[in-house]
Amino acid sequence: MNAAPSLAWDGAPAAEEPVLPMKPETPRAIHLKDYRPPAYLIDKVALDFDLDKTRTRVRSRLSVRPNPDARGKAGALKPVPLRLDGENLELASIALDLKPLGKKDYRLTDSGLTLLKPPSEPFTLEIVTFVDPEANKALSGLYRTNNVYCTQCEAEGFRRITYFLDRPDVLATYTVRIEADPNEAPILLSNGNLLERGVLQGGKRHYAVWRDPFPKPCYLFALVGGDLAPIASSFRTMSGREVALGIYVEHGKEERAAWAMDSLKRAMRWDEQRFGREYDLDVFNIVAVSDFNMGAMENKGLNVFNDRLLLASPETATDTIFEAIEAVIAHEYFHNWTGDRITCRDWFQLCLKEGLTVFRDQEFSADERSATVQRIVDVRQLKTHQFAEDAGPLAHPVRPESYIEINNFYTATVYEKGAEVVRMLQPLLGSEDFRRGMDLYFERHDGEAATVEDFVRCFEDVSGIDLTQFRLWYSQAGTPELVCALRYDKGKKTAELDIEQVLPATPGQPHKKPLHIPVKLGLLSGNGDELALKLDSGETVPDGILPLTKRKHTFRFVDVPSRPVPSLLREFSAPVNVTIDLSDRDVEFLMANDGDLFNRWQAANSFATRTLVDMVSILAQGKSSARGNRYAKALGATIVSDALEPAYRAEVLKLPTQADVARVIGKNVDPALIHRAHRALSRMIGRALGDTLETLYASMAGNGAFSPDAASAGRRALRNAALTLLSARGGKADAARLAKHYADATNMTDRAHALFLLAAEGGPAAERALADFRDTWMHDNVVIDTWFAAQAQSPLAGTLKRVEALTRHPLFALTAPNKVRALIGAFAAGNPVQFNRPDGAGYAFHIDQVLALDRINPQIAARMLGAFRSWRTLETGRRGLARKALQRLARSKDLSSDVHEIVSKILEG
Ligand code: BES
Ligand code: ZN
Repeated sequence: MNAAPSLAWDGAPAAEEPVLPMKPETPRAIHLKDYRPPAYLIDKVALDFDLDKTRTRVRSRLSVRPNPDARGKAGALKPVPLRLDGENLELASIALDLKPLGKKDYRLTDSGLTLLKPPSEPFTLEIVTFVDPEANKALSGLYRTNNVYCTQCEAEGFRRITYFLDRPDVLATYTVRIEADPNEAPILLSNGNLLERGVLQGGKRHYAVWRDPFPKPCYLFALVGGDLAPIASSFRTMSGREVALGIYVEHGKEERAAWAMDSLKRAMRWDEQRFGREYDLDVFNIVAVSDFNMGAMENKGLNVFNDRLLLASPETATDTIFEAIEAVIAHEYFHNWTGDRITCRDWFQLCLKEGLTVFRDQEFSADERSATVQRIVDVRQLKTHQFAEDAGPLAHPVRPESYIEINNFYTATVYEKGAEVVRMLQPLLGSEDFRRGMDLYFERHDGEAATVEDFVRCFEDVSGIDLTQFRLWYSQAGTPELVCALRYDKGKKTAELDIEQVLPATPGQPHKKPLHIPVKLGLLSGNGDELALKLDSGETVPDGILPLTKRKHTFRFVDVPSRPVPSLLREFSAPVNVTIDLSDRDVEFLMANDGDLFNRWQAANSFATRTLVDMVSILAQGKSSARGNRYAKALGATIVSDALEPAYRAEVLKLPTQADVARVIGKNVDPALIHRAHRALSRMIGRALGDTLETLYASMAGNGAFSPDAASAGRRALRNAALTLLSARGGKADAARLAKHYADATNMTDRAHALFLLAAEGGPAAERALADFRDTWMHDNVVIDTWFAAQAQSPLAGTLKRVEALTRHPLFALTAPNKVRALIGAFAAGNPVQFNRPDGAGYAFHIDQVLALDRINPQIAARMLGAFRSWRTLETGRRGLARKALQRLARSKDLSSDVHEIVSKILEG
């Protein structure tokens, strides 16, 4: 008989329950291998919202039919129960083909509604539910923020609006009618194109009807209602269609939306030129809201943004924020093709839209700005977050095989490593076949809910290359290590390069198969020239790319006139760690001579890391070290080179973070020692390169009006990087320069940079600056977050007390995710020395906050817990205290499934 496919995804059999349910059932893991197509499809959805702060009525009319692809073994279409997801809903009525259903016809639980005997022919279901937007603090489903009604449905929020098949492989067209009080919500938006609008009850109510002709899964549904200020513009697509663009923000903030609008048009043009992708609706709207769990969301034709990632002016936003806005606007826009037009079959395929779209936004930023600097920024991010995740208890494959709470899988691995996996297809296939593969994917799967398999097959089909082994990148977790050695034979003029891939065990995956890895390399002669890469087989190495497939390879290069210095993993051609025994001299040589600028930065970064690791072990023995001076000297040569753009030089000047050093040390980590070493190295560099840094500080000063362009931002970045190192010297003049930098700042980039440095030092100058910043910005809910974060990240001993006090500040609220991230997140993830206090008070505080948050917003609570992802690498004392804190959390009653899943994995792994 039919295995009731849609039931395969559900929890325990339904029981009779009260109409207004309370708590979700015990969480159960969902497995990729259990995927079954839905037993029913929904082709059309008509929604009618009657907006009310605490009791919004939702009328939903669904065109349902049995899914012909979900027949049982015998091929029979015997009707099976129809199970609809629903949470936190008050059911008012349900009718089938206009006939009201009675209690006997369906079962209601706290997670859904099951129609026991649906017809075997297509039918219409009409369901009326009530929801309470004001009470919704989880910010999933329909909620209110800053007096604006808005929705967030990815991943499983639609079920908090109405009963539905809340899964991404159910695609329907939507017509949405919204009715509201025109004073409260003059703006009414939903997906697609506006069909009509009008006034009711003599102006007491009004309504709007929107229609989205593109079939979509319910996670892409969106609705917004509120008193918002519109910024309007338009875009002419490559085929000459005019698209109306609208950005909606809080009144008075209109000017701050200009950068987002400009970024949107550049992103739309870029997707046409680079990927041949044209926008498809007549309107594209973006709304900025204050309380939002994520950065932004790609709802079809109606993107919703966290206002922090949309509003920017020179006075209020740093260059980093300008850059982030450009990237996030692009990312969400690019989802229109990679996510909306082609969506995911199930949530295990999340990387299909997220990894691919991150890759696309990275490429956009690289084209808009400096490609090398972009690559450095992206690789830094990958290593700091994804490599750390992959090395700990939360490690999982780019395509996970099971989950309890899907919201916990919007991870650095799915996003960042997912983007790297797509990126590797370029060196493996060549750019032309890569583009042809993308074209085929768009053509073949448009309008479908696809899988990673479908995606990879497109590249196999256009190139004829077998990607079976490559697919392991999606299923094997852990960061591969390439252990390399180079031997030179002076007599034979040959160089042999051994590369062994070592694949670390990860939770649930003790043994791994070798991966298909593109390693881009160069060999440099003593005077810095590129040597020809001739293999003893007679072949050359096209574009310097060696595709590894075996566990061990030895490449024998011939006609090598002198001992070469290897430049490995150029452009970071694969998401792996490389180890090779290079002398300080070789590394200095690469820093000065490598023709691949990315690898020149990589050489500087590894040199700094190895210096810091050495300094930590010297400090651990109670000795002091002058190890940093050699690094300082090498750095000096790079940063004066006018041939290198300022943004690049700024990246070279930035030391690896303390978390990066901790990750490389990998065990028995003492965050206090790392902090001391980090400070000591900064001071040494500041002293050794004082004159150079002062010259840079002076010469990079801005003249004239602020411009957010990459070149101007690069100059500010270099100047601020110089300021950081000069301030680390701790002299009187340095303190005066820093205070003046704050006072004279004419933009937020300089002001915020100075504020963070001052807050880290403490003392009267810091207090003055913090008070000034608070007084200037306390009425701006976006900018004030910088004030919270600067205090939370201060490494001073009194920080925890201060952070505790700030949790009671009138501007702080656990219900506002941005505030939580700015204070609690910044403390736990951005202040290694105080979070990891040797007395464990940092851990205890953090767990208390997670517990409190879990009652309000489980998604954010679970995310905050990620601060513990590397706890097992700590030295024994801290490790014991962290374990105690985590166990206290794990034992707490009524944990959400979100927090429960993370804390269990962190303690087990
Ligand atoms: N689809 C996501 C937003 C999302 C994630 C909503 C999880 C609900 C649950 C969106 O496309 C996204 O990826 N946003 C990122 C920013 C992006 C530039 C990587 C975010 O919100 O952090
Ligand atoms: Zn995304």
